[in-house]
Amino acid sequence: MTLIIAMDGPSGSGKSSAAKGVARRLGYRYLDTGAMYRAITWWMLEQGVDVEDAAAVAARTGEVRIEMSTDPDAPGISVDGRDVSGPIRGQAVTGAVSAVSRVPEVRAFLVAAQREIMADGGIVAEGRDIGTVVAPDAPVKVFLTASEEARALRRAREIADPAVSVEATLADQARRDRLDSTRTASPLTKADDAVEIDSTELGLDEVVDAVVRLVKERAATG
Ligand code: DC
Repeated sequence: MTLIIAMDGPSGSGKSSAAKGVARRLGYRYLDTGAMYRAITWWMLEQGVDVEDAAAVAARTGEVRIEMSTDPDAPGISVDGRDVSGPIRGQAVTGAVSAVSRVPEVRAFLVAAQREIMADGGIVAEGRDIGTVVAPDAPVKVFLTASEEARALRRAREIADPAVSVEATLADQARRDRLDSTRTASPLTKADDAVEIDSTELGLDEVVDAVVRLVKERAATG
């Protein structure tokens, strides 16, 4: 079985943990496309590019060299040979990533890279537009949601910085959700054929179980 599993949803929906869990369970690879948008944003900031200037971002996009590890037990990402797994989670990148990811040239560049990585199948890819744009033919598509409060709590726990309150996380998340859902290039939307899973009341294992069940059903029906 070498399926492509598309997992989309807003930030804090538990996508990353669930996608990694599914990949481990099935012996699949794992692709975090959000990390790629973050890496390109990190590079733009490092280069002093004004991230609000879409033309400037577009002009430099082709220069970025991103390398991904697709091992769910050791996911990693480097830019120009430098491991940026830590810096891409920082506040500077988080604050700028929506502006960079709405630039069509950035999306075209990363979507091409993602399709190349996914070409052999046997992979769980998570993001915002996997089921709609990157892999519209993926046989299994999941749209993971959770209440705003549950998502902000998870994010705050991930950030694990006492200086950043849950309220601030909630506000930043609402801002990014709005930007990600209203942009013209590939906004966050549920694919018509995606199965929606609300993880508000579910533990990680229950979400993973639900997705693995879908994969098995899909495999059984061809
Ligand atoms: O999943 P994340 O929070 O690490 O994603 C970071 C940002 O990247 C998010 O604000 C939206 C953007 N993104 C995107 O536009 N398309 C994707 N497939 C994945 C992420």
